[in-house]
Amino acid sequence: MKAEKTFVVLASGRGSNFQAIIDRVSDGYIPAVCTALITDNPDAYAIERARAAGIPGEVVAFRSFTNKQLYESALIAAIQKYDPDLVVLAGYMRILGSEVVRRYSGRMVNIHPSLLPSFAGLHAQDQAIQYGVKVAGCTVHFVTEDMDAGPVIIQRTVPVLEGDDGDILADRILVEEHKAFPEAIRLFFEERLRIEGRAVRISSSPSLNRCD
Ligand code: GRF
Repeated sequence: MKAEKTFVVLASGRGSNFQAIIDRVSDGYIPAVCTALITDNPDAYAIERARAAGIPGEVVAFRSFTNKQLYESALIAAIQKYDPDLVVLAGYMRILGSEVVRRYSGRMVNIHPSLLPSFAGLHAQDQAIQYGVKVAGCTVHFVTEDMDAGPVIIQRTVPVLEGDDGDILADRILVEEHKAFPEAIRLFFEERLRIEGRAVRISSSPSLNRCD
């Protein structure tokens, strides 16, 4: 049996959320170990971050597979190699197929830069600007087969200010992403999250401390 709880992170690019998460592992806030960074993109800067942190990096390059099914089989194999308790999608830019999603049902989380269910999909911050909303933010949610539609764990808000464009708003939201994601992962490992239908119930004290 594993002594510690573990998770792997899937990221496709810059990896600032990955960095924020592993920083909160290092300072003890997240009571679990990140055992791998897995990416579909050989050029992802997240790989450098993993190297710097001494975390194994696995590249499962989407482009080297002839179809999505083969890619996803390789992806599942890469994840399973680490037998994680949780799979964290931190800027992973591909839509996962049902086999992967079902396999990790209730133990795969994603971050999205909008207050879901508003502005699912790509360029959420630009969508928010174009719509003219006055409040925006980010959402951490469990992953289900419908894109950006799983049970919501945590949301954090930011104001949308006069003169904002998508990039300015994205930077403001990102600051909150870096707080929301570690918090959601911590709650997961404290066993405080319970999915009830569409909703996630958060218990107020760590079940680790309960005597029942
Ligand atoms: C974040 O805005 C995240 O919400 C979205 O993709 C972006 C990834 O940023 N899914 P980073 O790679 O974590 O810096």
